[in-house]
Amino acid sequence: MLSPAQQLRYQADGYLVLPGFKTGDAVAALRRRALEIVDAFDADSHRAIFSTNDQARRAASADFLASAEGVQCFFEEEAIDDAGQLRQAKALSINKIGHAMHDLDPVFAAFSRGPALAELAADVGLVQPLLWQSMYIFKQPGIGGEVTWHQDASFFDTTPSTVTGFWFALEDATVDNGCLWMQAGGHRGPLRERFVREGDAVRMQPLDATPWPDMSTAVPVPAEAGTLVVFHGLLPHWSAPNRSARSRHAYTLHATDGRAAYAAHNWLQRRAGLPVRGFED
Ligand code: FE2
Repeated sequence: MLSPAQQLRYQADGYLVLPGFKTGDAVAALRRRALEIVDAFDADSHRAIFSTNDQARRAASADFLASAEGVQCFFEEEAIDDAGQLRQAKALSINKIGHAMHDLDPVFAAFSRGPALAELAADVGLVQPLLWQSMYIFKQPGIGGEVTWHQDASFFDTTPSTVTGFWFALEDATVDNGCLWMQAGGHRGPLRERFVREGDAVRMQPLDATPWPDMSTAVPVPAEAGTLVVFHGLLPHWSAPNRSARSRHAYTLHATDGRAAYAAHNWLQRRAGLPVRGFED
């Protein structure tokens, strides 16, 4: 349970760092399972790339749309050469796995739910948490891509805004290998844009011209393996490309409050057979 001081800190900064939230065994089990998923992934039939730099209206790949209710690997942009071939081993080419492992894979499910997370979700104001998305992010050595400044609420629009991010360091995240950077207190600003699905296309729709933070006000958030960083969906954050020789694996969950209306234009929707639910086991 969060102390009153931690709760105040979360409200003031929009994020909170909780070292040692997960045990070394739990972290190791998730990492092993992720590598098994990558190993089993047929790289030749799926060339989906994940990039946050390309925000023009575009046809979303079938792999991307299906991953709302599945388990899909996405490549790093720099992993594939002009001829469509991998530049390095498959296990070093994957950007992320998404987006429903928390409901479909037993190892991920065990990591993603339980009393500690349920209590934390309540402490940060989620009365009826709904766990929409899981992502395993590799931030590969050398080619791990930049994630440009954004607010997670752009991808999980609810009225009022409720989405909350749970970011677990699975390896030590440092300034060198691409740790998170936050604009402390920036969650009190407006939602700048939203990611809208129209049929099988997606686009980023501008909402507010407030500029993104620059590095003069950005705060690095280094995190040892096992640390959980919980943060408000309106908090602007960014992470650098990883040009170091060390990977920076992380795992994220995104939850909204079921009391708020979940927008029909959000790209991630669930069919009746795979209902979204909270943090209870
Ligand atoms: Fe994010």
